[in-house]
Formats: sequence, C-alpha cells, structure tokens
Amino acid sequence: MMHILHVVGARPNFMKAAPVIAALGQRSSFRQTLVHTGQHYDANMSDIFFGQLGIPKADFNLEVGSGTHAQQTAQIMSRFEPVVLEQKPDLMLVYGDVNSTVAAALVCTKIGVPIGHVEAGLRSFDRTMPEEINRLLTDQMADLLFTPSSDGNENLLREGIAEEKIHLVGNVMIDTLVRLLPKANATVLRELDELAGLTRLTDSSDIGSYALVTLHRPSNVDDPDMLTRIIVTLHKISQDLPVIFPIHPRTRQRLQSLKLEADHSRLILIDPIGYLQFLALQQRARVVITDSGGIQEETTFLGIPCLTVRENTERPVTITIGTNVLVGQNMGRLKEEVDRILSEPEKKGAVPPLWDGRAGERIADVVEGWGQGNPR
Ligand code: UD1
Repeated sequence: MMHILHVVGARPNFMKAAPVIAALGQRSSFRQTLVHTGQHYDANMSDIFFGQLGIPKADFNLEVGSGTHAQQTAQIMSRFEPVVLEQKPDLMLVYGDVNSTVAAALVCTKIGVPIGHVEAGLRSFDRTMPEEINRLLTDQMADLLFTPSSDGNENLLREGIAEEKIHLVGNVMIDTLVRLLPKANATVLRELDELAGLTRLTDSSDIGSYALVTLHRPSNVDDPDMLTRIIVTLHKISQDLPVIFPIHPRTRQRLQSLKLEADHSRLILIDPIGYLQFLALQQRARVVITDSGGIQEETTFLGIPCLTVRENTERPVTITIGTNVLVGQNMGRLKEEVDRILSEPEKKGAVPPLWDGRAGERIADVVEGWGQGNPR
C-alpha cells in the first residue's frame, strides 16, 4: 500500500485537498495521513471547512498559528520534520501557494521524500507577492506537478522543469464546487438572509441584487491609505447596490485601527463565513469584487462577473476565457466597472477545459501510475 501524506494549513488549501483525499480514499492501493499545520486556526477559517467539505480530522495538528513569514515558515518546518521522519510517507502532497505549502516542501525535499504539488505552475510574475515565491520554490522541489490549466505547463517548461513530471489535471477547487453546489443551494438561503439581512436590503423577489466583496492581500489592506480608498469606494458602490463583505481576520484588524466612521447601512460587514454560505452568496451575486485567487476561478465557473483588485493575476484563463477583469488598485476604475456591469449585458465567459469536477480522479490516476513505476 502506498502511504500518502497530505499537508494543509490555510483556508484555500482545504477545498483543494478535499477532492484528492476523497479520490485516493476510493482506491484500496493507498493509505493516507493528514497534517494540518495550524496556519489558520479560527473555527470559521478552518474547522467549519473540514465539516462542510467532509475532510477527515487531521492526524496531526502542528498548531503553529500566526507570525512573521520567517517565524511561521520556520515553526512549520521544525514541527513537521519529526512527523515525516516517523511517518515515512512514500509521497507528500501539498496544495496551492501558502506558507505551509513551501515549508512542508522544504522539509520533505531535504529528507528525500518525493513531493506532489497540486495547483502547480501558476505565475503572477510579481515577486513582491509572498505566494509567488512560495509557488516558484515549491515547483522547483516537486517531483509531480499537477497543473490546473495549460498556461501552468508552459510556465514550468520555461523554468526548466522536466516535461514528464508535469500533469495537466484540471482544477481541483472546481471539483469541490461542482460537488457542493446543490447543497449550497438547498440549505443555506434562509440562513444567508438572516446573516446579511438581504431581503431587507434588496427586496425578497430579487435576492441577486448585491455585490459580494473579499479582500485580504497585504498590498490592499496593510496600507491604511489604500484600505481607506477601498472602503470609501465600496461605500459609494453601496448606494447603487448593497455590498456584502465577509471580513478576513487580517482585514478586520486593519479596519479596526482605521476607525472608519462611514454610514455602513448598505455596506454589510460580516465575519468570515463557511464554504457553503459563501458559495451560495457568490452564485447569486450581481458582481464579485475580490483579491483572492480561488474566487477568480469560482466566479469564472459560475459565470458571475468578477472584478479583481490586483495589478496582475496568476490565473490568466479567468480573464481570457472567464468572467474576470483586473481593475488594479485604481478605485475610480473599480467604480466604473461596477457601473458598466450594472448597465450593460455581462461579459459571457466560458469554463476552461478540464474544470469539470474530475481533477481529483486524474490526480489519483497519476499517483497510482507513479507508484507502480517507483516501487519501494
Ligand atoms: C494566507 C495566505 C494567502 C491566502 C490566505 C487565505 C500565505 C503567505 N498567505 O494569508 O495566500 O490567500 O491565507 O486566507 O500563506 N488570523 C487569524 N485567524 C486565523 C488565521 C489568521 O486571526 O485563523 C490573522 C492573524 O492575525 C494573522 C493574519 O490573520 O497574523 C494573517 O494570517 P496568515 O496566515 O499569516 O496569512 P493570511 O493573510 O491569512
């Protein structure tokens, strides 16, 4: 039996790992161990996702918590190394581009445990983003690189990664979305209404008349001037369209230190919400405004207009094929784009190839074949 050890740590890892764990679990040839680094630890940033996504309880929680990048990365490494030495997995799988991803990869590459990277090859070409450094380094260390779209293959080949290591499998995050969309629809509408007071604000017959916002990138929220400009603009937008903004802990802290006094009656600030709740909100939104990576992909799949408050994206297919538009950090542009969406027919996007709910299965196929070629 091949022993696979998965490492997850932060919110966006959970929806990527869930389908891979499930697909491997269907096959008798694998034994699996799950490590949670504890990078994200609040119940509404972690536990709620394990429950809603049906991820088994972690076998190990390293409880590293927050810190500077160096502290967090170093803590993960020193606490993870003994687990790897004891568990002796045949392959470690890491996901996405968070600090937990690169830290776990550094540990395994030095010990000689092969690494698979799920969501390999994405590049923003912006090395001021911590995630870009995490992506570049993890891909250099990985033995199996699973890409969501063909731009990922091109980036990796350009960086000198051997072609036989690269596998275009599609988007695992969309596996989770496809599986849980019916559940999100069925169970959470009333709850959402209570949460955000939607019917009060929008007229219950037209629950789709709101903008949904998520922002947490340091480049947007750590600079008080930028964050102030964003909030002022969201407030303007809320005059035309109620704005629902579930706030990431990082953003919440920054907002508290700003002490904004705006009249927020149509700008609804709420705590971070679960996967199903957020999916239901996305599906009904008139427009989504975000700086997240995964949400650019989810809106593309759902065909909902997305305005991304960043100068670049590592997910170019969401622009070339999907519904995404980069507005950068220009808040005038953000307001204009919202006005355009409200007045013109929407940009009709399409779904990129292999974003079909079967990426986890493809990864399981590759891992199985790889195991047969690398007997212990
Ligand atoms: C991390 C990822 C980012 C991802 C994001 C999704 C890195 C470098 N960044 O950013 O790519 O898009 O997760 O959420 O790995 N905090 C809490 N409770 C928690 C977690 C964090 O209060 O459960 C607060 C802490 O004050 C912490 C801050 O949020 O210092 C930032 O957390 P951190 O894990 O360092 O990075 P994120 O901004 O969450």
